[in-house]
Amino acid sequence: MRLEGKTAIVTGGGSGFGEGMAKRFAEEGANVVIADLNGDQAERVAQEIGARAVAIQVDVARAQDNQAMVAAALSHFKGLDIFVLNAGFTQKNMSMLEVDEQTFDRINDVNMKALYHAARVVVPEMIKGGGGTVLATASTAGLRPRPGLVWYNASKAWVINACKCMAVELAPHNIRVNTLCPVAGETGMLADFMGEDTPEIREKFKSVIPLGRFSQPRDMANAALYLVSDEADFITGVALEVDGGRCV
Ligand SMILES: NC(=O)c1ccc[n+]([C@@H]2O[C@H](COP(=O)([O-])OP(=O)(O)OC[C@H]3O[C@@H](n4cnc5c(N)ncnc54)[C@H](O)[C@@H]3O)[C@@H](O)[C@H]2O)c1
Repeated sequence: MRLEGKTAIVTGGGSGFGEGMAKRFAEEGANVVIADLNGDQAERVAQEIGARAVAIQVDVARAQDNQAMVAAALSHFKGLDIFVLNAGFTQKNMSMLEVDEQTFDRINDVNMKALYHAARVVVPEMIKGGGGTVLATASTAGLRPRPGLVWYNASKAWVINACKCMAVELAPHNIRVNTLCPVAGETGMLADFMGEDTPEIREKFKSVIPLGRFSQPRDMANAALYLVSDEADFITGVALEVDGGRCV
């Protein structure tokens, strides 16, 4: 068991990549807090996992909800070893000039400011426990952007940079900080990324992925498992492309 005895929080754990990671971590012995805006989905995933999991309804954009999810980890399990910032929000694929200010602010709050809120409660607990690991789901869009998702893409580039900065600053505390960069994946967010879900548009998005398919939750789950496990204990500050070769 690669995560035996560890405690993890996975935000956005109620579906898609986060659900895949939470289930994979639990299979490898971790206790998992499933923190999601959609409380019913978080509860479903926790029930499917069983005694190793608890669900909590949170909006990662709110400071007090970040405090609540850390409190849930500490009260149900022992310590906090792994934090996965995976919840995300996107504009629909459209001209940058058409994105309204409310949508821009939500991208900022969910994709960027949530890391600030989380760090302020997660990092002190990890320092107390002698170390830990933070993993953020960024995107290939933060490295190799396409048109149509300007503000979302930029928010993911911000996450990659913030995590590299955190990796350097937190290394003396034995806290590793990495990002995963998924290519387009078959989850709830795919339709918004494509703008419209038609066979032609799917083909267009798939055609730039050398391995010839969309990513799946199991791809992120396996990569995340490696990065948060002790097997990766010399790896910090990386942005790992899980993208079938898209960024080459
Ligand atoms: N699917 C893709 O093509 C793709 C590609 C690159 C990166 N990503 C990133 O992967 C991450 C996971 O998304 P997914 O593709 O699994 O989509 P998804 O819609 O299946 O899952 C996202 C989950 O996050 C939750 N969530 C949204 N806002 C939240 C908030 N404010 N607080 C708490 N939970 C919230 C949702 O309820 C949902 O359960 C996101 O950060 C996304 O930007 C997705």
